[in-house]
Amino acid sequence: MAVSAPERVVLASLPSPLQRAKRLGPRLGLEELFIKRDDLTGFSLGGNKIRKLEFLIADALAQGADTILVMGGPRSNLCQSAAAAARVVGLACEMILYGDRPSPAPANLTLAEASGAVSWFTGDDDRSSVEAFAKQRAAALTSDGNRVYAIPRGGATAVGAVGYHLAAAELVSQLGESGIDTASIVVCVGSGGTLGGIVSGMAALGVSWPLFGASVSRECVEAERRVDSIAAECARLLGTATPDLGLTMIDARGPGYGQPWSAAEAASDMARESEGLVLDPIYTAKAFAALVELTATGLDGPVVFWHTGGTATALEALARKDCM
Ligand SMILES: Cc1ncc(COP(=O)(O)O)c(C=O)c1O
Repeated sequence: MAVSAPERVVLASLPSPLQRAKRLGPRLGLEELFIKRDDLTGFSLGGNKIRKLEFLIADALAQGADTILVMGGPRSNLCQSAAAAARVVGLACEMILYGDRPSPAPANLTLAEASGAVSWFTGDDDRSSVEAFAKQRAAALTSDGNRVYAIPRGGATAVGAVGYHLAAAELVSQLGESGIDTASIVVCVGSGGTLGGIVSGMAALGVSWPLFGASVSRECVEAERRVDSIAAECARLLGTATPDLGLTMIDARGPGYGQPWSAAEAASDMARESEGLVLDPIYTAKAFAALVELTATGLDGPVVFWHTGGTATALEALARKDCM
């Protein structure tokens, strides 16, 4: 498919591997389970954020920005990889993070600061507090003569979603090489940019496979609204078919965003023991727990679990467990 995509700064090593989970699939009663290894996108430890950043950073450069202002939490995978990406292309990076500086600093924050990013904490645990703070900081930077490019939480913009629009075609082509022309896809939903891009990409391909979003951050209705909106904006930006695909959203928050959940811990242990997969407690382990739940109610045909990364937080969680 010829997509006239916006400019791209190549950061990732693509295509990411698509692996057949020969031990995990049967454990879940699935005939065929594949893992789309976007934890291995090959730049920093950014997982799914790298595909988004390729387009967001290119957009920043095209707009003549000299400073990236990226929003998130102290454990943000986006902020960590934005800091690394800004460094390699010669942009300054400031991070606007909700809450107060945690002690000890989480791995992602340490990595981001090691890449030269400056961090600002809003002092308010409300995740949306970063937005007003970022506006103020952008105004201050601008009045000092800087050109700022702001990246919202999750990199959830139509430009960022282009990375996943293209990833949908990558997956369809990889499965096609194994003679598979339909599959159920299970993917983690936070800000909705990843699934939004996939939805837009699938619509452009004229493919309507079952798509399952595991919402780890918001109620399903709100998560779906965000996914739909990003998918529509992404398709508009690219001039491709308007998405009209049915999604199934599953509430995978457990006790709440960022809170430990025993079902996610069990799912993570199973994935590691069976396939050597490393899942993080905030995003991917919860999404995998949703997949486990889905298998109990019946999932037809080949299934793809889209591994979106979270490696730094996964290691941190394991290290904490070891200390207890
Ligand atoms: C490891 C990981 N997986 C999944 C997600 C969710 O992706 P999205 O925000 O695009 O819905 C995130 C977002 O922060 C993430 O860091």
